[in-house]
Amino acid sequence: MKLVHALIGALYVSFAHGMPVSGSPPSLNPAINTLHQFPKGAWVENLAVRQNGALLVTRLDVPELWEIEPVFDPLNSNPLHPSGSARLIYRFPGATGLMGVATVNANASDHDRYAVTAVNFSLTTFTATPSSSSVWLVDLSSKKNEVHVEKIADIPEAGVLSDITNLDILGNMLVADSTAGCIWKLNVNTKAYSRFLCDDTMKPLPADGLPVGLNGMKVVYDGQSNTWYTYYANTAKQTLTSVAINRVSGTTNSGFNQLAANIIVDDFAVDFAGKIWAAGNPSNTVTVIGKDNKVESVIGSKNSSALAGITALAWRSRTDGPLYGTTCGGVMAPVNGTFTEGGKVVAIHVWGLAGVN
Ligand SMILES: *[C@@H]1O[C@H](CO)[C@@H](O)[C@H](O)[C@H]1NC(C)=O
Ligand SMILES: *[C@@H]1O[C@H](CO)[C@@H](O)[C@H](O)[C@H]1NC(C)=O
Ligand SMILES: *[C@@H]1O[C@H](CO)[C@@H](O)[C@H](O)[C@H]1NC(C)=O
Ligand SMILES: *[C@@H]1O[C@H](CO)[C@@H](O)[C@H](O)[C@H]1NC(C)=O
Repeated sequence: MKLVHALIGALYVSFAHGMPVSGSPPSLNPAINTLHQFPKGAWVENLAVRQNGALLVTRLDVPELWEIEPVFDPLNSNPLHPSGSARLIYRFPGATGLMGVATVNANASDHDRYAVTAVNFSLTTFTATPSSSSVWLVDLSSKKNEVHVEKIADIPEAGVLSDITNLDILGNMLVADSTAGCIWKLNVNTKAYSRFLCDDTMKPLPADGLPVGLNGMKVVYDGQSNTWYTYYANTAKQTLTSVAINRVSGTTNSGFNQLAANIIVDDFAVDFAGKIWAAGNPSNTVTVIGKDNKVESVIGSKNSSALAGITALAWRSRTDGPLYGTTCGGVMAPVNGTFTEGGKVVAIHVWGLAGVN
């Protein structure tokens, strides 16, 4: 839905250039429901919200895209039904898992097509088979409830393609390359792709450590300055960065601004106030970072299974919560040292806020 925000000019994101402030932020304690839990071993990696309210979620342990339908109490719209129904949308051939999923926006009436990244990725070494990344198009717009899937492109030059996000209304998507430290641009209509932006802030650490640099990534419009930004997380370097972009040329219109450092972050969502809600997979938390780059609050905790291994976040709509999340079940770092569970889809009951997914 990023583009819709942009078109109505409603998302005013302002930003500061200060450094993050350390200290102990207060914890927020919103209610958290599990909408659906997959069996043990399931890693749920990312999500997109359909206009009909259903969630599309990717699995990284198997190459499957699932749909979860949350059920709201019609009286007070809260709480959600404890277990939304789940259905397999598609099992992708020729890959071991799926990473990102995002809405495509090729024109004003293009509302139910999604781009998905697939890769042969090991959840033990966190590395991929070289040249195994591809991008697919999932078309759910058929009135007869049919699912049409086609491969848009193999990108053999890429390392690990992870998050994907919509760039414009011409069918262009940005795709994060976690090992090369680059963002690719790919057009779902022409199937053409090219490197969009590469920077050191996107690369993994040169030495040992998690070989996953660039990870979550969003395109954000600042209505006040009429400027487009890319916000992105670097999981290995534990940073969040923004850079102003020219959406056509792929050149930067500003320096690279560090929004947060020492932050455990996989993917994130941005709200209308410009705050970042960062999913911290091995810390089992969501960290809220204010416009002044200060950590404002934290949801969940290391020893709580509520957000065990939280991988990604997305707002229910552009006008309200809850904030939906996906988890890997804490397998990267077990809750309290021992506990792991099947990956799940949760609703975090934050209301009155929404923004860029
Ligand atoms: C990726 O894995 C799939 C499923 O195991 C396999 O069919 C395919 O050949 C692999 N691709 C590469 C590039 O190794
Ligand atoms: C908009 O995109 C959809 C999906 O690709 C396509 O079916 C439709 O023909 C397009 N409409 C126009 C006016 O280009
Ligand atoms: C660890 O967390 C799980 C899930 O919350 C809980 O069931 C278990 O009792 C905890 N174990 C310890 C040793 O704290
Ligand atoms: C988490 O649980 C473990 C095992 O029960 C305990 O040793 C540790 O102190 C707890 N950590 C926190 C931050 O509560």
